[in-house]
Amino acid sequence: MNEVHRPVLAANWKMHKGPREAASFMEGFLNLHPPARGAIVVIFPPSISLVAARHAALARTDIEFGVQNVHTRESGAHTGAVSAPMAADAGATWGLAGHSERRHEFGDTDEMIGRRLAMLADSGLRPVLCVGETLEERENGQLESTIRRQVEAALGQVPQSRQESVLYAYEPVWAIGTGLAASETDASEAHGIVRDAVRGTLRSGGAPSGSAGSATGDEHITVLYGGSAVPSNASDLLAAPGIDGLLVGGASLEPESWAAICAARG
Ligand code: 13P
Repeated sequence: MNEVHRPVLAANWKMHKGPREAASFMEGFLNLHPPARGAIVVIFPPSISLVAARHAALARTDIEFGVQNVHTRESGAHTGAVSAPMAADAGATWGLAGHSERRHEFGDTDEMIGRRLAMLADSGLRPVLCVGETLEERENGQLESTIRRQVEAALGQVPQSRQESVLYAYEPVWAIGTGLAASETDASEAHGIVRDAVRGTLRSGGAPSGSAGSATGDEHITVLYGGSAVPSNASDLLAAPGIDGLLVGGASLEPESWAAICAARG
């Protein structure tokens, strides 16, 4: 992990916890997690529980909230959808795009993901682009081409002036919910590929004006790791080169295990 930057520890609750359960989780978690521990803690509840979770943590400005998905448009006749400006209005300051469950279960294409990412950035949310290969792609030697395609297709749709606001999460599909986390070496290698793909995209579209030096390649590109991160491997993952934080599913659902991950240090 880069010494200068605070780690980002993000909880993706997926389709777990309605408003009441979200509020009671927050109560339990906040008791276990004292303020100002150094990491940036972000929780992504289901959008219907966002306000309740946030309300339960109003006294704690060290905890931030995000949405798991947004529509590609601001508003309109899109039954069942939530837009990025609405999420911001509800208190979200972060948003995910491109999670593999969205890609595989809901058919999100690279093109749609790019539009969601742009919408998040446009609405002033911190966008996190999730990328990662399936086991088949890894076994076929397509790790690098898959990550490059996912990064280029999505980031290329974000206006240049906002590209630097994007963070990334490397989530190998074979590691999600399987108990089989990537090794630190494999994760570090993949994070290097993500950074390389980001730099390539920034350069091919021209560096965003006023950005922190994309032309020289010295900008900081934040890349989180996700996939079976748990309290027992969190510190080792955070200590690995190029890993700036964690995006956690299953182990973020209990206050105790989530607090243990938030206390982990690289
Ligand atoms: P697990 O931590 O349950 O493997 O899920 C990871 C993930 O998909 C986070 O977005």
